[in-house]
Amino acid sequence: MSVLVAYASRYGSTAGIAEKIGEVLRDNGYGVVVQPVQAVREVSRYDAYVIGSSLYEFHWLKDATRFVRTHRMTLEQKPVWLFSSGPLGTAKTNDQGQDVRDGAG
Ligand SMILES: Cc1cc2nc3c(=O)[nH]c(=O)nc-3n(C[C@H](O)[C@H](O)[C@H](O)COP(=O)(O)O)c2cc1C
Repeated sequence: MSVLVAYASRYGSTAGIAEKIGEVLRDNGYGVVVQPVQAVREVSRYDAYVIGSSLYEFHWLKDATRFVRTHRMTLEQKPVWLFSSGPLGTAKTNDQGQDVRDGAG
């Protein structure tokens, strides 16, 4: 079974997560290709998909959203697992009332 792990990452954290997912799948006997969504050329040849993006201002990066929308017809016929990377949760402030983004980036 071949799996595409496709991701969008601004500073590399989500790329690292995607590589780790790929490594674990490979260790479990799957054929895996890990690529940034922008680099994916042929989408339909895989049996399953893992697609992820980091979150910025509560949204996926545009390249990841575009990838899913563009390939919706293919993806809806196969198993798909989506993941988001971002440690900030949905609260805009922490317990002390500080903006949670102050320490980010
Ligand atoms: C300006 C800014 C906005 C962010 N917004 C969110 C957010 O809304 N939700 C969240 O969980 N993480 C948020 N994060 C954290 C990033 O998603 C997190 O650091 C992520 O791991 C970055 O991954 P990347 O290096 O693959 O882009 C934000 C970070 C920055 C710098």
